[in-house]
Formats: sequence, C-alpha cells, structure tokens
Amino acid sequence: MATSYVGAIDQGTTGTRFMVFDHSGHVIANAYEQHEQIYPEPGWVEHDPVEIWENTKSVVLSGLDEAGLDAEQLAALGITNQRETTIVWDRESGKPVHNALVWQDRRTTDRVEELQEAGKVEEIREKTGLECDAYFSATKTEWILDNAEPLKLQSSRSRDLRSRARDGELLMGTIDSWLIYNLTGNHITDVSNASRTMLYNIEGMHWDEELLAEFDVPEAMLPEVRPSSDESLYGHTDADGFLGAEVPVAGALGDQQAALFGQTCFDAGDAKNTYGTGSFYLMNTGNEAVSSDHGLLTTVGFQLSGEPVQYALEGSIFVTGAAIEWLEDVDIINNAAQTAELASSVDSTDGVYMVPAFTGLGAPHWDGRARGTIVGMTRGTGKEHIVRATLESIAYQTRDIAEAMEADSGVETTTLRVDGGAVKNNFLCQLQADIIQTEIARPEVDETTALGSAYAAGLAVGYWDDLDELRSNWQVDREFDAEMESEQADGMYGRWDDAVERSLDWAQE
Ligand code: G3P
Repeated sequence: MATSYVGAIDQGTTGTRFMVFDHSGHVIANAYEQHEQIYPEPGWVEHDPVEIWENTKSVVLSGLDEAGLDAEQLAALGITNQRETTIVWDRESGKPVHNALVWQDRRTTDRVEELQEAGKVEEIREKTGLECDAYFSATKTEWILDNAEPLKLQSSRSRDLRSRARDGELLMGTIDSWLIYNLTGNHITDVSNASRTMLYNIEGMHWDEELLAEFDVPEAMLPEVRPSSDESLYGHTDADGFLGAEVPVAGALGDQQAALFGQTCFDAGDAKNTYGTGSFYLMNTGNEAVSSDHGLLTTVGFQLSGEPVQYALEGSIFVTGAAIEWLEDVDIINNAAQTAELASSVDSTDGVYMVPAFTGLGAPHWDGRARGTIVGMTRGTGKEHIVRATLESIAYQTRDIAEAMEADSGVETTTLRVDGGAVKNNFLCQLQADIIQTEIARPEVDETTALGSAYAAGLAVGYWDDLDELRSNWQVDREFDAEMESEQADGMYGRWDDAVERSLDWAQE
C-alpha cells in the first residue's frame, strides 16, 4: 500500500492553505491562494463564501498535484479556520444568503452597546466565557437574518429569512461548518469553533436557549457540535466529487486553538502566541474554565473523542501582522521583510508610539470604537521610526496579554511558543523576548495551525496513537532570550498605556 499522509485545510482571514504532513509532522505539500477582502463601508469586512469554497478545492487539488500525491493517500482531512466569521446559507441549494461577515467586522457595535446598556455583559461572560463584542458570531448572525435579501428562490419568494431558518431551510455556521458541509454534506462544527459564537454555553456544553432567544437565532439552523478530533468522523468526501475519493473528514479546530494543538500545548500552563493578521495568545488551563478578571476570554481549547474538554485563556489582539500590511499599503515599506532592516537602522523610535487599533481594540481593552493612532512624532521622525514603533506595538500588545494571563492564572510563563508569518522576523522575536522578558521558542514547523488540525484528524483515525507521539514531533528552530535590561523594557512599556489611552473611544457615529 502507498504511504499515507494527513491533509489539512487552513482557511484563514487573507487566504486558504492546503498542507499535507507525514507521520513525523514534516510538510509534504503546501499550496495557498488569497481571496478578496470586501469593505462595503468603513468598519465592515466581508468575504465571498463561494470564492472561499472554490479556492479550497483549488488549493487541495494543486497541493496534491504539486507533491505528486493521490487523494487516496490521505488517511484523513482536518480543517482549521478563521474563527467567528459567519455565514448563513440555504440547506438545499448550498447558496449563501449574504457574504460572510468577517470576525473583524464592526457593523454590529451599536447592538453590542445596546446589550451592554441592558446589563447583559455578565450573563454573556458567565455563559460563553466571552466579552460582549461585535467580534463574535451572535450579533453577526442576527444582522444577516435581519438584513439579507431573501434568496431569489422559487420556494422562498414570500417568506422571511427567520421563518425559513426556523424550518431548518437555512443554516448558520462558521467557516469550519461551511467547509464540512461542502466536503461531506453534513452540518457540523467542533467545540472550539462553537465556543466563539457567543451562543454556546461552555460550562453546560450546549447551545444556550436564552442567548438564542436574545438574538432570535433559531436552533434548527445551527450545526451539531462535535469533539475537535472525532473518531465517529464528521463525514467523508464524495468519491464522485472534486477530490474523486472518499477521504474521512475527522478533525476541526478554530485556527488559534489549532495552533495551540500544533504547538503541542496539551497541558495546563502551556502557552503559545500566533502572529497572523492579529495575534492570539492562548494558555491551556486544563479541564477548568478559568474566568478572567483582566479582560481575557475563557474559551474551549480542544476536545478529543471520549475525553473531557480542555479550556484555554485567550488574549485576542486584533491587529499585529495587519499593521505591517498597512505599512506596505501606504508605501512606507515595499515588503514585510524590510521591516527588520529599517527598524534596526535606528536605536529607538525616538519617543514615537503607534497603536494599530484599526478595527477597535480587543483584549484587554475591548473598545470597539478605538482607532489607530501615532503619537510622539517630531520633525525628525522618519519612516524607520514609524516602522520600529509598529513592530514595538506588536510586542507591547503581547506584553499586555502576558501580564493579564499571569494575573488571571497565577502561572508565570517562562517560555512562550510562537508561530505565524511574522515570526520569521528575527528582529521581532528578539524584541518580543526583550519586552516581555521571557524566552521565546520558535518551532521548526512554523505552520502549526495546519499541523494542529492535521493532528486532530490523524488522531481520530489512528494515524497517530496518542499525544506523546505528537509531543516528540515538536522541534525547536531557535530560542530567543531577553537581552535587554528589565528596567529599559519597563521604561519603554511604561508609556504604551498612555498611547493606548489616546486611541480609545475615537470613532463617533
Ligand atoms: O479570531 C480570529 C482569528 O481566528 C483569525 O485568525 O490567522 O485568520 O488572522 P487569522
């Protein structure tokens, strides 16, 4: 029999990746395609779900082709995805009723403020572990059901979306569900993705009736919630479909939880930070859902078949890598690789601070009306100072989270595992170690998000036996120790809060 592998679809905010891994976790295939970012109004962000599905098929096929693999060689497929992004579609035709509302979309901020004024914040936090924020899927689903044009289908001409949803004719899901539905025909999500909807009760582990009533989301439209690694399988791809083979789809994880899993953070106290569009710092808290007093989220880390849920504390930073993209968009740099060279051409930012609150601020501030700001500029400020201030803003935001994490969990992080596109930048990794005064460990396989979902799927079908086998796959590429004196780091970090203060509550009606 030909050697078998495990495939992972990583559907992220900017693009879709397909990777294939072998038994030791090495990359055998890697294909990627970007999709369009749609900004219909300031603060609104949409994706076309059909484009995402087309790109998914195309990267899977090109990834297999380029590596000379047959679909039959895939022992299982795992899925990982940008979280919270919300789609509503027609069960029968599979057509979305509206573009996906992306996690960064702030159009429901007014509704969130209404909930805050109505005193719902505590209830929402207790049930879901989340802050009451437009980031999550609940208000996005409500908005689509209130605002999308009824589909131009024979059967739906005279019926509104909610009554169709109540009858189970319309389905709601995050991107994992959208892909599982298109791959297998089944309407399923995993616990980690369900925990990001603000509709799922993470103590009782069920869709929460009161929250469904609050947002008028009919339960009939929601996916069945399964473990992240599911021995009973989510389904199979269709032998007559695009792949031409029946491959078991056996694991799914929200991308940040997938990175936690891929970094083999299986035990309480293990932590990782992923530097993508935003940064997401997660610490495994074991079987206990630790609630936060410092602006962090309590969320589901992962669940293996037949085992209890493992929870995590999460610090969600909305903009880090996207701040570097912005530098490129406004022609301050030509490409991301230039940032290290420019930033290290000066000793400091000369007092310049940049707060990239382009889509509001997430943890620990949770201010949907915060906006980006640069403070401290003088006539002598050059682009190298702005670039350095942008990289420092990534490190400072991460320190905000590290401090909150320590205060909530009582656990001091001695090593932080990092991954994501920006960690190729040695300057940033060193800066991060200096600013939080902690060792930074970068693994050999930096695509830990895809790897994590491959692990979840592979465990479910017995491709890997247990977590110990996965632990032995983790190899360090490079460790960065703090080189800066702690007084200097504290001094630099000291003014960060002042700069953040100036960005808060900036956006008006
Ligand atoms: O919660 C949003 C997060 O899942 C997005 O991740 O890597 O697609 O920017 P990424």
